[in-house]
Amino acid sequence: MRIALIGIGRLGKALATALSKKHELILVDKDFEETKKSAEKTGGKAAKGLNEIKNPEMIIIAVKPAHVQEVIGQIKGPATVVSCAAGIPIRKLEEWGTGTRNIIRIMPNIAAECNEAVIAYATNDEQNEKRFLAAFSSVGVCLKVEEKNLDPITAISGSGPAFLAFFAKAMIAEAVAEGLDEATAQKAVAQTLIGTGQLMLWDWSPQKIIETVASPGGTTEAGLKMLEADKASEAVKKAVKFATEKARELGK
Ligand SMILES: NC(=O)c1ccc[n+]([C@@H]2O[C@H](COP(=O)([O-])OP(=O)(O)OC[C@H]3O[C@@H](n4cnc5c(N)ncnc54)[C@H](OP(=O)(O)O)[C@@H]3O)[C@@H](O)[C@H]2O)c1
Repeated sequence: MRIALIGIGRLGKALATALSKKHELILVDKDFEETKKSAEKTGGKAAKGLNEIKNPEMIIIAVKPAHVQEVIGQIKGPATVVSCAAGIPIRKLEEWGTGTRNIIRIMPNIAAECNEAVIAYATNDEQNEKRFLAAFSSVGVCLKVEEKNLDPITAISGSGPAFLAFFAKAMIAEAVAEGLDEATAQKAVAQTLIGTGQLMLWDWSPQKIIETVASPGGTTEAGLKMLEADKASEAVKKAVKFATEKARELGK
């Protein structure tokens, strides 16, 4: 598929790495020299503007929300338009696009970098949805949600890597304070995150994992008691609640 990717920042670079493996990818950013470097690294091509790209089947907008209007205003033709911008609703994108109706709104996360992203998406158009899934299935797991639910999923999967990394950072710090070297601690926590995630994908609920690991009088039970005493569950819920509210606020 010929895909134009507009905005080669933090997210754009991660998407470029994932998508260029299976698609003809053309990168566009304000800074053409940097765009050429990113294109060389990812195996894509660089263009100075959308007008240089002939008949793209898909145009991905990965610029900051404040720049989306100017980008979508330049789009003509039947390409599927994928917007990564947090908080900008489909109705606004349609209003800003000159006749653009083929819109998929997505909330990806930074794990696109290693093809393990969660890509939550909302759309009303089945034809474009097929095209979108054909491209983005290689970037990670695509989850369709109602547009209003992009806000809570922004909190758990968009911001989620930072929340889990926050937990991981504290675990590593304490293991190092107890004598373990940092590289080993980081590997142990990383693989523990992967393994726990895999069990959850096999339909083990978080509660089942907790009950299976925490035998009475054991180490896990001792640690969990401290988490409960410090109301860690309430703190995590608050973080997700505030992040969801922030996403809602950005969408107004
Ligand atoms: N980062 C994440 O983890 C993440 C996760 C989910 C969703 N998102 C969404 O993804 C979008 C991009 O986020 P980001 O963190 O990657 O932003 P970023 O690092 O600022 O990257 C945006 C890039 O687009 C360029 N740009 C701005 N206007 C342009 C235009 N008219 N034509 C071509 N390029 C243009 C910017 O150049 P200048 O810097 O020169 O303006 C910059 O290089 C945002 O809408 C954000 O809400 C990001």
